[in-house]
Amino acid sequence: MSAIKPFCCLMVRKGPDGDLACQVETVTVEDLPPGEVLIRVELSSLNYKDALACQAHPGVVRNLPHVPGIDCAGRVVQSTSTDYQPGDLVLVTGYDQGSNRWGGYSRYVRAPAEWVVALPVGLTIREAMRLGTAGFTAAQCVMAIQHHGIGPEQGEVVVTGATGGVGSLAIALLSKLGYQVAAVTGKPNQAKFLQQLGATRILSREDVNDTSNKPLLPARWFAAIDTVGGNTLATLLRSMAHRGCIAACGLAAGHELPTTVYPFILRGITLTGIDSAQCPRARRLEIWHRLATDWHLEDLEHWTHEITFAEVPERAKSMLAGKTVGRTLVQTTE
Ligand SMILES: NC(=O)c1ccc[n+]([C@@H]2O[C@H](COP(=O)([O-])OP(=O)(O)OC[C@H]3O[C@@H](n4cnc5c(N)ncnc54)[C@H](OP(=O)(O)O)[C@@H]3O)[C@@H](O)[C@H]2O)c1
Repeated sequence: MSAIKPFCCLMVRKGPDGDLACQVETVTVEDLPPGEVLIRVELSSLNYKDALACQAHPGVVRNLPHVPGIDCAGRVVQSTSTDYQPGDLVLVTGYDQGSNRWGGYSRYVRAPAEWVVALPVGLTIREAMRLGTAGFTAAQCVMAIQHHGIGPEQGEVVVTGATGGVGSLAIALLSKLGYQVAAVTGKPNQAKFLQQLGATRILSREDVNDTSNKPLLPARWFAAIDTVGGNTLATLLRSMAHRGCIAACGLAAGHELPTTVYPFILRGITLTGIDSAQCPRARRLEIWHRLATDWHLEDLEHWTHEITFAEVPERAKSMLAGKTVGRTLVQTTE
């Protein structure tokens, strides 16, 4: 242990004046919480939940000081679990990492063995973090639509928050699987990016933000992936075709859902909730395997930004203001 030199992490803490600080600090391996697997983190990523954690949002972070970062990938350095040996390449996404527990914005993390996933054959560390929780969540949404029995022949799937991490990866996955995709975005200047990902039609946020009190709207889609919630999700519910399915995973536009029961009882709509943090291990392993094999996404590199710990707070602010595009990798070497 003592061979590991002090290292950097991004720490969120309250100063003596009560002001919040999110800054790079030097810590030692003894500062890490207990756990079976010590990992030298090669890369992390920025997700919406991380952006909230950087601002100590009470819905994400219960205790300060706190190290954010719900994703990390790297190499095992020490392990008391027989499932992992020093040198193994691994990733951790979700669970309590980066919310109630020391996260991936740190050169080293210590994790419970049951949180650790062996890097699947077919994925590099970089590819795994380009996906991260966002890609994992997008894959869960696509799987939910498939399990509902909706295939590409049933027409377009609509994806909201299209330029975001989950949205952009959902478009890429759906397109790879042969679906036509309508991308809903507040950034019309990113139409080319969305088309390159595989979107076949671009819609504005206003196109999916009905403010009438009509209990049902003309049927437009059999399937939707919603990352934004609020009135957008309410509009989608009223716009789905008979027996359609919505995979709801996000709240970028708001956590409220103003709806009636009519879409459910008159059109048989299914609203499927997607949670990635506590996804059961068997399903988790299956999803990572798919993402490394038949759902492997190529060409994500030029849509990926890369930043240092010191750049995270500013980027997190942009993300919460809805201004970022695609995925952001976080380097762990300052
Ligand atoms: N359930 C889970 O397990 C899970 C896992 C991952 C993420 N999430 C949630 O999914 C959402 C997306 O996460 P992410 O990491 O992809 O974040 P992100 O990269 O910031 O993407 C969010 C996107 O939503 C759109 N948006 C932002 N503000 C909006 C507003 N006020 N109204 C309508 N659209 C808005 C923007 O896309 P456009 O400009 O293109 O419209 C933005 O890029 C977040 O709410 C996050 O908490 C949930």
